[in-house]
Amino acid sequence: MTTDKLKYKRPYITLSAASSLDGYISTINGDSRLSNSKDWSRVHELRSKSDAIIVGSGTIRIDDSKLTIDEKYFQKKPMEHPIRVVVSSKGNIPLNARVITYKSDIPTFIAITSQCSKDQKLKLEKSGCKVIKCGKGPLVNLQQLLHILKTEYSIHNVMLEGGSRLNGEMLHQKLIDEVHLAIAPVICGKGVPFFTLPKTISSFAESPFFKIIRSERINDMVFLKIIIQYKQRDIT
Ligand SMILES: NC(=O)c1ccc[n+]([C@@H]2O[C@H](COP(=O)([O-])OP(=O)(O)OC[C@H]3O[C@@H](n4cnc5c(N)ncnc54)[C@H](OP(=O)(O)O)[C@@H]3O)[C@@H](O)[C@H]2O)c1
Repeated sequence: MTTDKLKYKRPYITLSAASSLDGYISTINGDSRLSNSKDWSRVHELRSKSDAIIVGSGTIRIDDSKLTIDEKYFQKKPMEHPIRVVVSSKGNIPLNARVITYKSDIPTFIAITSQCSKDQKLKLEKSGCKVIKCGKGPLVNLQQLLHILKTEYSIHNVMLEGGSRLNGEMLHQKLIDEVHLAIAPVICGKGVPFFTLPKTISSFAESPFFKIIRSERINDMVFLKIIIQYKQRDIT
């Protein structure tokens, strides 16, 4: 597929996350329980407005996320769960992961590369997953994946739910439009950062501008609604 600007299409992408006050989305031991119950409602409401949820394989391996919606939060009629999409270059997802086994009538797509063995691809398909090959690797070609989701599956709104490395790659490739961030009143000193970027930013002039368009309290947390502008921040 060409990623020519004129031909390349992608859905609108909203990154949703909860972080500690010092900018981590999990401790190094894998504790990511940062949201309070009201914030969980926000997460489920956003899921219910999305056509698909995308996560990295690391999040599935560590959190074993189900990526479904509690029925009381449904915003869309008829009630429909978003498609679940996991990116994993070699299809390295446990076959008993809840994203595959829980409510198996909800479609789960696994985006892989040519580096995934035929045997593993077959195992994923036999477990009920739709497997989509996106590039040669080493990582899943995200632009190609998003183009396929938009043009072949009519997916217009995607919720990106982490983790750190996928957030970083998506941001680096300018594929995130909006961020919904809930900040919890805790710290961990050293943990899993909100973004693991493929290239370190040495000057804030290189950072995208996170334009905060709304801020509010969610009980003991602070919620920020942000539009990402891929341009330098103006501090005059
Ligand atoms: N607080 C929150 O809101 C929140 C939300 C979600 C996750 N988390 C936390 O985030 C942590 C997991 O983050 P993580 O960075 O380890 O893993 P991740 O971002 O979930 O997944 C990264 C993995 O996805 C695969 N991948 C394939 N193509 C990729 C591409 N183009 N770009 C990026 N990744 C690609 C790679 O593994 P393969 O070898 O399989 O290709 C890569 O190592 C967990 O601790 C979880 O609790 C927190």
